[in-house]
Amino acid sequence: MHADALGEGGVCEVGDAKEPAEQPERYWRGMMGEMRALRLHEDGLRVEEIELPEPGPGEVLARVHAAAITRDELTWPTDRLPAIPSYELSGVVVDGGDEVVALTPFDRDGVAAEYAVVPTAVLAPKPPELTYGEAAALPMGALSAQQGLFVHGGLRPGERVLVTGASGGVGHLAAQLARHAGAEVVAEEPVDLVFDTAGADPLPRAGRVVTIAAEAPGATYFVVEPDGAQLAEALRAGLRPVIDSVFPLERAREAFERVAARGKRGKVVLDVAGG
Ligand SMILES: NC(=O)c1ccc[n+]([C@@H]2O[C@H](COP(=O)([O-])OP(=O)(O)OC[C@H]3O[C@@H](n4cnc5c(N)ncnc54)[C@H](OP(=O)(O)O)[C@@H]3O)[C@@H](O)[C@H]2O)c1
Repeated sequence: MHADALGEGGVCEVGDAKEPAEQPERYWRGMMGEMRALRLHEDGLRVEEIELPEPGPGEVLARVHAAAITRDELTWPTDRLPAIPSYELSGVVVDGGDEVVALTPFDRDGVAAEYAVVPTAVLAPKPPELTYGEAAALPMGALSAQQGLFVHGGLRPGERVLVTGASGGVGHLAAQLARHAGAEVVAEEPVDLVFDTAGADPLPRAGRVVTIAAEAPGATYFVVEPDGAQLAEALRAGLRPVIDSVFPLERAREAFERVAARGKRGKVVLDVAGG
């Protein structure tokens, strides 16, 4: 068991699961140094009991309340199975109790589990006005949009921007961020910047074209970088996430079917802590 999971006299202080009456199963699992986690295996997804992970230097253990998922993400970690999916969390830092959100690194286990080890450098404060489910829906979209619009796209106030996939997980937040920055979000050319989240083919034309969906000639493709300070900056725009649907960990397969479907609106969220 991780040392921080035991308080004085062996009282479990894993996250905010201090009250056995509230979540007795999670409480006792924490006491035993175990947690429930969703893991991707060669033959698919399974919810399993595994060892509580231990944070190293520069990392914290977080109690995950909600985790959000992204279309195509199960194709990312195939070189290191079994792997915990989902890279967006809202939750509570075990040591100190801070409420946080994060986009977590893609080269290690994700956060679809009762607890997750998270580098402190990727944590941002959870917006207090949002539920845990709503807050988990923000990190991937907010950071992808922040980096796509401003770092790679150089968007300036007064410019016209076209966001493809504008109702999707990234797109709906990109539209909010662009408006907050004083840009005009439009559906048709002419535009100064195209931010492509749908893999549009052909891409709309513009002086600057940035995409997260698929590499394309003449477009700047990038992979979003987890960054707590930048996430906090994006969240200061007061982003309002749209939640398409919420599933418990046990129904993760349905959640991944939903995230791959057409006609979604916003993010698909895994409710890890049960409400
Ligand atoms: N490079 C990066 O760092 C990065 C970061 C985040 C996401 N991504 C990728 O970027 C894309 C957008 O992410 P997202 O979370 O915004 O996805 P999303 O929620 O699925 O939204 C994308 C939107 O594009 C439309 N779309 C067009 N072609 C589609 C298709 N073949 N399947 C499903 N939807 C399609 C959908 O709208 P309609 O169904 O209404 O047409 C959907 O609302 C995904 O492929 C994701 O894996 C990349």
